[in-house]
Amino acid sequence: MTAAHEPIALTLRDADATDALGAALARTRPAQAVVHLSGDLGAGKSTLARALLRALGVQGAIRSPTYTLVERYPLSAGGEAWHLDLYRIGDAGELEFLGLDGDEAVLWLIEWPDRGGGALPAADLRVELAVDGEGRSARLLGASAAGLAWARAAGRELAADL
Ligand SMILES: Nc1ncnc2c1ncn2[C@@H]1O[C@H](COP(=O)(O)OP(=O)(O)OP(=O)(O)O)[C@@H](O)[C@H]1O
Ligand SMILES: [Mg+2]
Repeated sequence: MTAAHEPIALTLRDADATDALGAALARTRPAQAVVHLSGDLGAGKSTLARALLRALGVQGAIRSPTYTLVERYPLSAGGEAWHLDLYRIGDAGELEFLGLDGDEAVLWLIEWPDRGGGALPAADLRVELAVDGEGRSARLLGASAAGLAWARAAGRELAADL
């Protein structure tokens, strides 16, 4: 059944479309999920993470975790969303100093996951973003049963939105 594993390919014409993808992912998210966000500098990883958090009801500032490495947000639905940006991490061992046991986390949004080495939880969903002309392209790749279902549901929602 290779078809089930094909990535969902999306065109995000502007930053509003990235926000719409974040909202679609929020509406369709599983109870517990790890998202790896990849793509070059400026590809839209933080824009997408911020839109997802907003759509989950996070109020107030959503800062990029560029220097803190992790920002934690209590969710009104219960549990916490953890937003990580590992671009500036020295080595994967630094993650252990942060004490990221993940007990409270129901949603992980991880930018630059490759820099975390094996210290990170495995992805349910990989989102690959890339600059594409004036806009961005996105590929959603499910990496678990829940992640596959999520990618498909979010792709359908977004197609209806845009
Ligand atoms: N679909 C889109 N089309 C055009 N511009 C977009 C789109 N999505 C996001 N942007 C813009 O791209 C810029 C960079 O976005 P963002 O900071 O989210 O990138 P990033 O991948 O997190 O980069 P970094 O790796 O540096 O953290 C922002 O100005 C944002 O508004
Ligand atoms: Mg970023």
